[in-house]
Amino acid sequence: MSFKHRSLVPLMLVGMAGCWGNYSESPPVHLQQNMDFQERGEAQERNQFFADGRVMRTPPAGTVAVGFLKDDDHLWRGIDDKGKVAATLPEGMTADAELLERGEDRYNIYCAPCHGQQGRGDGPANRRVAGGFAQKPANFHDERYQPAPLGYFYKVGTEGYGLMKGYSAQIPDPKDRWAIAAWIRVLQVSHGAKKSDIPAQFAQNKGAGK
Ligand code: HEC
Repeated sequence: MSFKHRSLVPLMLVGMAGCWGNYSESPPVHLQQNMDFQERGEAQERNQFFADGRVMRTPPAGTVAVGFLKDDDHLWRGIDDKGKVAATLPEGMTADAELLERGEDRYNIYCAPCHGQQGRGDGPANRRVAGGFAQKPANFHDERYQPAPLGYFYKVGTEGYGLMKGYSAQIPDPKDRWAIAAWIRVLQVSHGAKKSDIPAQFAQNKGAGK
């Protein structure tokens, strides 16, 4: 650069600094591309790359969304590791007061309208349909249901049986459906209980054994 032009350098710097903070409608110069701009398919778009012309692809069979793998058969399907209807609560669940209270609460909302609060199959829904349901809701104190494994009540509550639909949509948490199964067992056991079955500390309570 000759001496003559050197005097222009400060002027150029001032000129460049003057642009700082100015807004522009045009996109910035993108020297390093880094794959920042790529072709892509929009939802529902056509694309000749695939034989069927659809850009949206079907996920491979058996694909499960992250966090939605229901691989615990005992918890989700009521089946134990021998492939039989499970007789116990799934691992990690205990039949404590909290679980039974939850079960009672959910049972009274979702099952009692048909099966009755005591599980006798005499809930108000059945009574109010003229002539009753074509198929009566089960009475859990019938001999048929007494020996049923705990998982059976879970399974029917989840998948339904005959005329009864499953309740997994209304009761989405499988643990709640297990709590209901446990509560049905409580109803069964307490139904046939004798005064001698009541632990001493409760037998003193007013009304016990009546
Ligand atoms: C809208 C009424 C209705 C509700 C609510 C209902 N059930 Fe039922 N349930 C029935 C009827 C009706 C049957 C008999 C179905 C048949 O035999 O076709 C039945 C049968 C059953 C049986 C016996 C199945 C067998 O082997 O015979 C079980 C167990 C059961 N229900 C559990 C439940 C549980 C648990 C809930 C709550 C989550 C529930 N039900 C809610 C109507 C209902």
